Amino acid sequence: MADLSVNICGVEFKNPIIPASGVFGYGREYEEFYPLSRLGGIATKGTTGTRRTGNPAPRIAETPSGMLNSVGLQNPGIDAFIETELPYLLQKDTVILANIAGSTPEECAEVAAKLEPTDVHMIELNISCPNVKQGGAAFGTSCVMAEQVTAAVRKATTKPLVVKLSPNVTSITDIAKAVEAAGADAVSLINTLLGMRIDIHTRRPVLHNNVGGLSGPAILPVAVRMIWQVANAVNIPVIGMGGVSTGEDAIELMMAGACAVQVGMACFTDPYAPVKIIDSMNRFLDENGIAAARDVIGTVRPW
Ligand SMILES: Cc1cc2nc3c(=O)[nH]c(=O)nc-3n(C[C@H](O)[C@H](O)[C@H](O)COP(=O)(O)O)c2cc1C
Repeated sequence: MADLSVNICGVEFKNPIIPASGVFGYGREYEEFYPLSRLGGIATKGTTGTRRTGNPAPRIAETPSGMLNSVGLQNPGIDAFIETELPYLLQKDTVILANIAGSTPEECAEVAAKLEPTDVHMIELNISCPNVKQGGAAFGTSCVMAEQVTAAVRKATTKPLVVKLSPNVTSITDIAKAVEAAGADAVSLINTLLGMRIDIHTRRPVLHNNVGGLSGPAILPVAVRMIWQVANAVNIPVIGMGGVSTGEDAIELMMAGACAVQVGMACFTDPYAPVKIIDSMNRFLDENGIAAARDVIGTVRPW
């Protein structure tokens, strides 16, 4: 049995596998399948200052090797999260990353401040959501906005701050460097890639929101590329995700530079995916005589 543990920003993970935000709710449904303590960590559904109902249906569609979603930030709001969901999750002997979002830097900071007195282990700030103060452009699409929102949240929390980057940018390394300079302790990437499909019979977009986020195996090569570029551009840890559905995929993201790996859409196709990934990652390490998962981080040998 290889040593699967990793340490990110002083937080000890028993293994590097974390169900990604938005596909795992608050874990309750998955606990019917396996104890949540098997997981390295859990990234919770994005939580905002107040309750949100998300976007109108249809808001999910299958695509070749992936899916499009425009669920939006459907969540009960930070107060209900702290009162109802967080105490349940904190009993589960796994690292909890509270994924937070907001429409303004102030809202994001307020959500982080409310989490400060709790025992949540890490904050993951999603900067892919629209900034209403800047005409609705996502925070994560400009260095200035990404820096502003990171700095605002940094002031509001002493917890390890992971900033989750959007891939819908020209240079993800510039955004990563901007959030590092603004006080991020780590970055996670990638969020979904903007996409669109049209039903040619009705001429209607398949999603009510017209456009949505693409996730699943189709985006794995984009994730590997961006993780590799970002890991070489910053001095803070990188948590990787995007299209991972096997232990081999997770190892690939770690070789690109990820210290831990989140699993999104694969949880929908197979609720056991995260634990199967942990087991097959272990087998790969044993078969290749590698003593510890952390030994593969950033070991790609570029041509
Ligand atoms: C239905 C759905 C909801 C999501 N909700 C969130 C969210 O609330 N916050 C967030 O940061 N990312 C959210 N994501 C993005 C995922 O956490 C992840 O970054 C993305 O899906 C890529 O990983 P994957 O290809 O393994 O799914 C969501 C993804 C899906 C499919």
